[in-house]
Amino acid sequence: MRQKEIKRKTDNWKDLYRKNRYEDEELQLGMELPHGPVLFYNELVADHSTNPRNVGRITDADGSAHVGDPSCGDEMQLWIKINGGRIADIKFQSSGCAGAVATSSMTTVLAKGKTISEAKRITDAHVILALKGIPSRDGKCVLSGITALLEAIKDYERKNAADKNSAS
Ligand code: FES
Repeated sequence: MRQKEIKRKTDNWKDLYRKNRYEDEELQLGMELPHGPVLFYNELVADHSTNPRNVGRITDADGSAHVGDPSCGDEMQLWIKINGGRIADIKFQSSGCAGAVATSSMTTVLAKGKTISEAKRITDAHVILALKGIPSRDGKCVLSGITALLEAIKDYERKNAADKNSAS
């Protein structure tokens, strides 16, 4: 991946990651994270890292993204298929750590079936809560899936707008 592109992604990740955000979200979602620091993968996180959902590639995707974290060298690709304004299918491939794989897997589970505007509102907090907590050292790993999802949606919207312009 080109250095300029990686830098843009990194800036994007920094914008997206807001520390302590999940406390507010916790109230909204009516869920509780385990108290105290989470040090180990719980069973759900371990399951999503060893048996990730929605792994693969969509050859006729409507939107796609390729993002990377230069600080650890992990990369991921994600594809979405849109039908009736909803994410009808979503697939990803990751060369990331176990935390990145588990959180990306959960991101795809949360996004599948959602409308575009619903999917855009998925945050790292939702993913962490859906996984019932992740070790704090993996806090940034969750952003690879979220960033890829948002970039793929942007890609879809760009293409969609271009199609509409060329039709008019
Ligand atoms: Fe790179 Fe987890 S260490 S994404």
